[in-house]
Amino acid sequence: MTEQTTLSDLPLRPELRGRSAYGAPQLTVTNQLNTNENPYPPSDGLVEDLVAEVARLATTLNRYPERDSVDLRGELASYVTRQTGVPVGVDNVWAANGSNEVLQQLLQAFGGPGRSVLGFTPSYSMHPILAAGTQTAFIDVPRTGEDFGIDVDAAVQTIGEETPDIVFVTTPNNPTGGVTGVADLRRILDATRAAGGIVIVDEAYAEFSAESSATALIAEYPTSLVVSRTMSKAFDFAGGRLGYFVADPAFIEAVMLVRLPYHLSTLSQAAATIALRHSDETLATVDALRGERDRVVAGLVELGYGVVPSESNFIFFAVPGDAHRMWQHFLDRDVLIRDVGVPGHLRMTVGLPQENDAFLAAAATIIGEHT
Ligand SMILES: Cc1ncc(COP(=O)(O)O)c(C=O)c1O
Repeated sequence: MTEQTTLSDLPLRPELRGRSAYGAPQLTVTNQLNTNENPYPPSDGLVEDLVAEVARLATTLNRYPERDSVDLRGELASYVTRQTGVPVGVDNVWAANGSNEVLQQLLQAFGGPGRSVLGFTPSYSMHPILAAGTQTAFIDVPRTGEDFGIDVDAAVQTIGEETPDIVFVTTPNNPTGGVTGVADLRRILDATRAAGGIVIVDEAYAEFSAESSATALIAEYPTSLVVSRTMSKAFDFAGGRLGYFVADPAFIEAVMLVRLPYHLSTLSQAAATIALRHSDETLATVDALRGERDRVVAGLVELGYGVVPSESNFIFFAVPGDAHRMWQHFLDRDVLIRDVGVPGHLRMTVGLPQENDAFLAAAATIIGEHT
């Protein structure tokens, strides 16, 4: 090879030209508060059970995994039933490699060329990227006000006019942290159902919120509601890559048409099943993180930062001046947070108490230097 080939030399699909890949920086810093993971490592009991199970399964890896992940989906159904109080069975749950893959499969089945997806932005940056990857047009409806809430009257009107095939509602919303309550969800669901589309409620951070889960609405909206969830956040399992959705069984039939065969490896299925069996220990950390979130919010407010109310494990706050320069100032102090591209705002993930102390110390110095 002589000359370096660049992306623009390739016959790439036109709608992907000029786009950027998803990419929270993966840097080596002491205080890594940028990707909304649970900072507590898995318990010793979980690790022991996992190691024993991997040793047992290692001799079977010459065989393909169980293709429909039925045992794992059964464990997920029991967990969702316990966590939400809504009776959910194995036929209501679908699992894949992170909720990113779940969302991609839903877009493959319900989006596509000539179809559209509507999202309330700023929200999870992968939603438009997944839309582009499936050739689904993305309709951007801005969130409004200091809290970045959904203007439901405007939303209902736009859904009626644009008749999207899919509507994303992220609650709690990433990166802003607020929730969309059940009454507002119902209005969005009614409008979307009337327009012939489906609503995907992205509940990646549900366990951190006091708001009830949209799974309670599935019986009422069987053909128009899918609730997407993940084990990556509260569940302390980001490295395990396990996401799932809860919906009417017909939606599982739909994604089976597009999923890759054997998409969930034997090891992924086993590790997630073990993690679910340890859910009580794992989720005990959620209360600690909520307490830390409230402490960090109070600290930021005391320092004079504007903070968007959060029902999640991250905090979206206003910074004086250029957000990217401010992000760099935190990084210079060994604190990696996230610049999500919203002017004048940054997002920090709630970490361990000592990491949050380091963040607040950096925030104090930075605001002192810029006001
Ligand atoms: C709102 C939201 N949905 C989905 C995901 C994807 O999570 P995963 O693929 O790890 O399940 C994230 C990750 O940050 C998120 O913030």
